[in-house]
Amino acid sequence: MSMPSIVLSTFLLLFLPPLLFLTWYLHIPRALPNLPKIPIYVSILGLWSSMGQDEIYERWFRTPLENHGAVLVWFAGRWSVLVSRPDWLTDMFRNEQLYAKAGSQIKIPHAVIATLVGDNIINAHGENWRLYTNTMKAGLQKKVFDTTSLLKQSRKLVDVLIDLQKGVGVDKGILVNDDVQKWAVDVMGENFLDLDLKSLGQPNGAVRIEALQSIIKATLFKPMYFSFPDLDHFPWLLPSRKRAYNIMHEFDNRLYAKIMTMLDKRNQTKSNEQSEEMVSHMLGEAYTSGRITEKQFRDNLKITFLTAHENAQQLVTSMFWQLGTRVDIQDRLRSEILCTAKTHPNPSQEIINNLPYLTAVVLELLRLFPPVCQLINRVALQPALLGGELPIPKGTFVGWNAWAVHSNPAVWGEDAREFRAERWGESVEEMQGRFRRETVRGTYIPFNAHKRKCLGQGFALLQVKILLFVLLGRVSWVVDPEYRLKMTPVCCSSDGVYLMLILIGWDSCTAGLSGYFDRVGVFMKRLSSTG
Ligand code: HEM
Repeated sequence: MSMPSIVLSTFLLLFLPPLLFLTWYLHIPRALPNLPKIPIYVSILGLWSSMGQDEIYERWFRTPLENHGAVLVWFAGRWSVLVSRPDWLTDMFRNEQLYAKAGSQIKIPHAVIATLVGDNIINAHGENWRLYTNTMKAGLQKKVFDTTSLLKQSRKLVDVLIDLQKGVGVDKGILVNDDVQKWAVDVMGENFLDLDLKSLGQPNGAVRIEALQSIIKATLFKPMYFSFPDLDHFPWLLPSRKRAYNIMHEFDNRLYAKIMTMLDKRNQTKSNEQSEEMVSHMLGEAYTSGRITEKQFRDNLKITFLTAHENAQQLVTSMFWQLGTRVDIQDRLRSEILCTAKTHPNPSQEIINNLPYLTAVVLELLRLFPPVCQLINRVALQPALLGGELPIPKGTFVGWNAWAVHSNPAVWGEDAREFRAERWGESVEEMQGRFRRETVRGTYIPFNAHKRKCLGQGFALLQVKILLFVLLGRVSWVVDPEYRLKMTPVCCSSDGVYLMLILIGWDSCTAGLSGYFDRVGVFMKRLSSTG
């Protein structure tokens, strides 16, 4: 055999099979609708580029999504249809029987993410979903939430941030993310799981189950494994995957142990009525009576832990950034809040929900920074015609992008990308009416819509409003001028926010509130000096 033919046959032997495999693995199925295709490298851009999700969206997604209402995108190991046209979204959300929930436990059951979340109230379909909802709903959707614990946790967060700022001095920014996560985890624990986790105020890593959350987030959203979850088949070859599975198991086992200890204690002491309504008790009762299996019990505990802290955490981080660039919004909010605080230093849910500007600001934050920005977790159970127009073959995964809808000028007007709380109206009734209408139309979907919309929505809105209520009474802040916002690779939330906190001074509304503003006078800097 001549030298060139040896080289050629070696090349063919070595490279042809993987090339053929890759061509087959990455090809777009012919049956998929004729839509613009987002290049596959965009899904793994994070490997070599520091572009944030906002820049990626502008560069590759905005034009095709706004022109066509949907695109083909490589997501979690397959080509899927990502939709942004509101009437198509409404069709998808309304027809849950056709576009059925199918999370990672169905799509990629072997993967690390499926090990983490399992089959739960958010990603299950049919009988299982009904079982989980009947078990947990009453604990997720209380008519009236007691604000005592939320006020206490929010005051603690503000104390911690003020101490942090004092520690670094007036001219340096502080990173708020770690403490926001601790606050969100503690709030979730107290309100849904009957766990007093006490992570806020402790050094990073002191409460292992809270510290695990940062590790889990960093583990899950590695671009290569996120886009090619088939790699999770090889933990024996990829040590980082082995570590990832171990982390997920550690979280699972720690949470299970904590909940079982709490339930045992409760059974012995038969504690008060309020804790009867907690999700963890309802799940515990369903598990011990045999209505759900141990795996279903564990999976639903984990999803409650994750969803009830992570989304609030993201929203608050975005809030710190957005309001830290707009002191005028802080000022207007503060005057509304302080006038109420004068008569209601410990406001009830009703009082908080009656504040119009506060309501508008939170709705607008959710529009511009939807914590759940993109989800592709539904599958067409039959051949379908989305919105009567777009053919979707059976077995195709379909999903949505909230930022695409919320930032589309054709939907929200030319100022769609501007923060303008006034767009929600004047009165709380007007705002709630608009919130409901836009949700039903598929034009405002931070909590999704129709049958599978968020069950924690009422609590989440209250939680963020109470934090703002407490925060604005005590401090003003600006984003550290050296910090540049970068959206995280997966969601539309800010990726680490450095703030400079300034304790506010006295003004006409605060007179007489010395108990409420316990720190006034300790460290005073007038707002005007912040520029
Ligand atoms: C700012 C905070 C929150 C946001 C933005 C948010 C957003 C969402 C979204 C977009 C969905 C739909 C997911 C999908 O289509 O697969 C959802 C579902 C859900 N959320 Fe939330 N959520 C928040 C807070 C909470 C909290 C505090 C809880 C309490 C545990 C909660 C419990 C749920 C549940 C149980 C579902 C599943 C509903 C069902 O499918 O029947 N969420 N949430």
